[in-house]
Amino acid sequence: MSHLPKTLANPDVLVGLDTGDDAAVYRLRPDLALVVTTDFFTPVVDDAYTFGAIAAANALSDIYAMGAKPLMAVNLVAFPIKELPVSVLAEILRGGSDKAREAGIDILGGHSIDDHEPKYGLAVTGTVHPDRVVRNRGGRPGDQLVLTKPLGTGVITTAIKHQVAPEASATAAIDAMLRLNRGAADAMATVGVHAATDVTGFGLLGHLHYLARASGVAARINAAAVPFLPQSEMLADAGEVPGGTRSNERFLASRVHWPSSLPAARRTLLCDAQTSGGLLMAIPAEQVAPLLAALERQGAGGWQVGELIAGEPGLITVS
Ligand code: CO
Ligand code: CO
Repeated sequence: MSHLPKTLANPDVLVGLDTGDDAAVYRLRPDLALVVTTDFFTPVVDDAYTFGAIAAANALSDIYAMGAKPLMAVNLVAFPIKELPVSVLAEILRGGSDKAREAGIDILGGHSIDDHEPKYGLAVTGTVHPDRVVRNRGGRPGDQLVLTKPLGTGVITTAIKHQVAPEASATAAIDAMLRLNRGAADAMATVGVHAATDVTGFGLLGHLHYLARASGVAARINAAAVPFLPQSEMLADAGEVPGGTRSNERFLASRVHWPSSLPAARRTLLCDAQTSGGLLMAIPAEQVAPLLAALERQGAGGWQVGELIAGEPGLITVS
């Protein structure tokens, strides 16, 4: 996106390309802004219905990460129509449609193309009050970092593709990817968060880097406090690591200070490219207990994994 030309100066563009945020936000009226995002990808699990539902949960997540409510969505579909039965496509779309319904919206259209490799996702439109947009750039030194889903979906979906994922790992990863971030976003709305993003392709540390950099602060992560999906460390050690995770590790090499004692698998998982990952929130210390209580009421996870500190913008120290 950084290669796009500079956008026109428009005061109604509340969130554009500048800070690499989760969605674009455009003010329509003093009390109403549109939130627009899209995401699609190739299958991460074998079951077509489950893939469709995960892709929809993942696309909706960027709306929730902005503190917004989804309004409607349209499908984005690529499918090898001459190579696979159309019933497979119907199952993908049914999964997406059911997940959108769970989020309280309908899918109202879309577009499909014939493509060798199946791909599916949504373009989602939501709304938010312009004063309640949760950006990635609002974090301040002393803010505590709270994460709402365990890490490891990149490693485990790679192991699923190679048919070496233990059943308990696969089940836990699929459950996590299927879970909407709506409950986490509702909890977030009840406390005063300074900044938030969702954890997806750049991994926990990649998204934290962008949040911290946009906020003009550094960050510290307590590796022992970060939740990981079952057996994800074992699978990372066994080399079940997606290419995206490896490129995150390379990108972050000069932006993260690692303790020499940290096992390689943990380092990999902190960079692991996530699908439909949790929200990462930066909140004042006194809001941690109310936020964790609100997350629990919503049935969402909540782990205090680190903090923002004064320092070189975007620099992360893992301890
Ligand atoms: Co996002
Ligand atoms: Co996104």
